[in-house]
Amino acid sequence: MRHLLDTTDLTLGEIDEMVALAMDMIADGEKYAHICDGKKLATLFFEPSTRTRLSFEAAMYELGGHVLGFSEAASSSAAKGETVSDTARIVSGYADIIAMRHPLEGAAKVASGKALVPIINAGDGGHAHPTQTLTDLLTIYREKGSFENLTIGVCGDLKYGRTVHSLIKAMCRYKGVRFVLIAPKALQVPDYMITEVLEPSGAPYTFAETIEEAIEQLDILYMTRIQRERFPSKEEYLKHKGAFILDLKKLEKAKADLTIMHPLPRVDEIAVEVDEDPRAKYFEQARNGKYIRMALIYMLLQWRNTSQPSEEENIIESGLCANPHCISNFETLPHLSTLTKQQDIRRCIYCETKTK
Ligand code: CP
Repeated sequence: MRHLLDTTDLTLGEIDEMVALAMDMIADGEKYAHICDGKKLATLFFEPSTRTRLSFEAAMYELGGHVLGFSEAASSSAAKGETVSDTARIVSGYADIIAMRHPLEGAAKVASGKALVPIINAGDGGHAHPTQTLTDLLTIYREKGSFENLTIGVCGDLKYGRTVHSLIKAMCRYKGVRFVLIAPKALQVPDYMITEVLEPSGAPYTFAETIEEAIEQLDILYMTRIQRERFPSKEEYLKHKGAFILDLKKLEKAKADLTIMHPLPRVDEIAVEVDEDPRAKYFEQARNGKYIRMALIYMLLQWRNTSQPSEEENIIESGLCANPHCISNFETLPHLSTLTKQQDIRRCIYCETKTK
């Protein structure tokens, strides 16, 4: 059975196939109106969401299926102490496929080990949000017609922003893509993104501290929110709030065919005046989320009898994970690490934090 825990679970060929299917679903929705008749999607959202949960639910209805689930941990038995492992096992008796969002990193991975149906990671803490990345890829494809030869500026909270990490991991696999990482030093991408993702991929990257110094060269500007909920303290968050605000003045030197993206929700990082600029594509991006999730649900259901490609041949026992948000510190799970392809680096199998 296949799950979607991170975008790297998909080959480039499978991503192309999914994007092509989503494009066909956009062009001829009627053709797909009954392909999931009788199937049920469970949306288990232990964290708030508007776009992801509702677009998953809309996607399943568009395919003729049904939806069940909850939108907050408080209305599930998690409030009584039920584990993710048990929840996943139980719900897989009620649904054919599960989309799950959880604040703990590695939660979807744990669910995939217990569920009898495909698990889709709809966001696990600061770790990964692969269906946002697929949404972003569909948007890039619709706007640019290709994933190659693009200069992508990612701006804002690059430290805690899971959407940015997933996007960089996905896009660095394409030819001719270069990145401009726009953030104050304190919010730059974590070191592992440089040493284990960007450097090995060979994709060129530069750093910038302001939008103005980067804007002229960009084909895509991907804005992100400062992730208040992931900061260790309110004081720390307030230091960075409002650090980057895109307005029409900052767009004066931008290319005429720049694509401005944002996973949303925004706080104040894109001024409302930008919304009517033809280069602003973030509302279209949110709409694309429904179509790519339609394609994903259908493909995962089709793949039920194929096995998950595994890179975890080198699994070894390890101590407690150092990441305080890792699910292995909250549920009774074996403490395991995987040896990555890079020399001797061990990572927690749940949240991918470096272990000793
Ligand atoms: N982009 C995104 O994940 O939005 P939601 O939190 O509203 O699902």
